[in-house]
Amino acid sequence: MKVSPEIASLIPYKPGKPISETQREYGLTKVIKLASNENPLGPSPKAVAAIKNLLQQQHRYPDPGAYELLSIVAAKWNFPKEQIGFGNGSDELIDILVRLYCEAGDGVLTSESAFSAYEISAQANRAKVHKVAMKEGFKFDLKAMADYFFKHPEMKIKLIFIANPNNPTGTYISHVEVSEFLQKMGGREDVLIVFDEAYNEFVRAKDYKNADDYIRQYNNVIALRTFSKIYGLAGLRLGAMVGPKEVIEIFNRVRKPFNVNDLAQVAAVAALQDQEFIAASQQIVWKGLDYFYEKLQKMGLPFIESQGNFVMFDTLRDAGLVNEGLLRKGIIMRPIKNYGFNTHLRLSVGLDEENVAAIKALEEVLAQIVPITN
Ligand SMILES: Cc1ncc(COP(=O)(O)O)c(C=O)c1O
Repeated sequence: MKVSPEIASLIPYKPGKPISETQREYGLTKVIKLASNENPLGPSPKAVAAIKNLLQQQHRYPDPGAYELLSIVAAKWNFPKEQIGFGNGSDELIDILVRLYCEAGDGVLTSESAFSAYEISAQANRAKVHKVAMKEGFKFDLKAMADYFFKHPEMKIKLIFIANPNNPTGTYISHVEVSEFLQKMGGREDVLIVFDEAYNEFVRAKDYKNADDYIRQYNNVIALRTFSKIYGLAGLRLGAMVGPKEVIEIFNRVRKPFNVNDLAQVAAVAALQDQEFIAASQQIVWKGLDYFYEKLQKMGLPFIESQGNFVMFDTLRDAGLVNEGLLRKGIIMRPIKNYGFNTHLRLSVGLDEENVAAIKALEEVLAQIVPITN
C-alpha cells in the first residue's frame, strides 16, 4: 500500500534523547538531561498529591468535558468556558487545528526555524507548509509573513503559526509588532492566526504581551498554552487553546472524547493554584539562564537571550561532534540541525548543580574540538 507523497516525505519529530537510552548506549549510570525544556523542579507537589489520590480510580474513563479544569482555567485566564479547549498536549491542538481548517493542498504559514510541530502536522494532514525567512537576531518576521500571505492567494493559506516565544531560538515578538501584524491580518474570515505561547510564563522582556487582548479584539486569533513547561506536567500531556467559540465548538466535535486523561486534569487543577511552585519555576529558570549567559560569554560562544526555559548557543564547531562528546560525559543537550543550525545546540535550564555540570562538560568537550573557521 502506498501513502501520499506528503506522508512519504515526512521527517518525524526528533525528541530529546531519553535518559535510559543514553545510559544504555554509553554505559553510564548518571545522566543529566537538559534537552527537552522540561521543568527541573519536577511537578508541583500539590499535583503529585492529587494524582496519587486518583490512582485507585483508573478503571474509570475521564471526564470528557474536563469540568473542573475548564472552570478553573476560565476563571484564572478570564475567558468564557466556551472559548477554551484542551488537548493531549498542545501538540494535539496543533494537529487538530490543521485537520479542521486545511483541506489537502491548502497552506500553513510559519517562519523558518519555527517549532517543528507546525510543519509535521501540516504534512501529516496533507497541507503544504510555507516558511518565511527569519529577520536578524533569529526573530519571526511578521511583516514578511503578512506580505507572503497577501502575495500568494494561490497558496490558500488557512493557518498561520507564530511561536511567541519561539523554540528553539528563544526569541519573542514585541506587542507592537504583533499589533501591526494584526491590523493587517486580524478579523479576516479566510485565515486563523495561532500564537503558540508554550513559554509565555518565562518571558522577561518588557515589551511582550500574550495574545489575550488580541483574542478579545479579533475573531480569528487563537492562543495555545501548555502544562508541560511552567506547570511541570509534560508526561501527563495537557495543552490548552483559547480562541473564538466557533473554533472551540468545532474542535470539541472532532477531538477524541477522552483525549485528556483524568490524572492530567486533577494535576493541572492543583498546579494552576500552586502559586509558590509557579514562582519557584520562574525563578530557577531566570537564575539558570543568567548563569548560562555569564558562562557562555566567558567561553566566547555566541548565544541569544532567551524568553523560554532554554538557551540556543553557537558552539562554533560541528554541533554533532560536540553533542557526541557531551553524551559520553552523560550530558544530554539538544542538537538543532533539523532547524537549520549546524553549529548550535539548545540547552534547557536544569537544577543549579545540573547547570554547573553541563557547563563543565561543555568546556571539557570544546577544548578537544577545533573550532570551525570561515
Ligand atoms: C513552542 C512549543 N509549542 C508546543 C510545544 C509542545 O508542548 P506540549 O508538551 O504541550 O505538546 C513545545 C514543546 O517543546 C514547544 O516548544
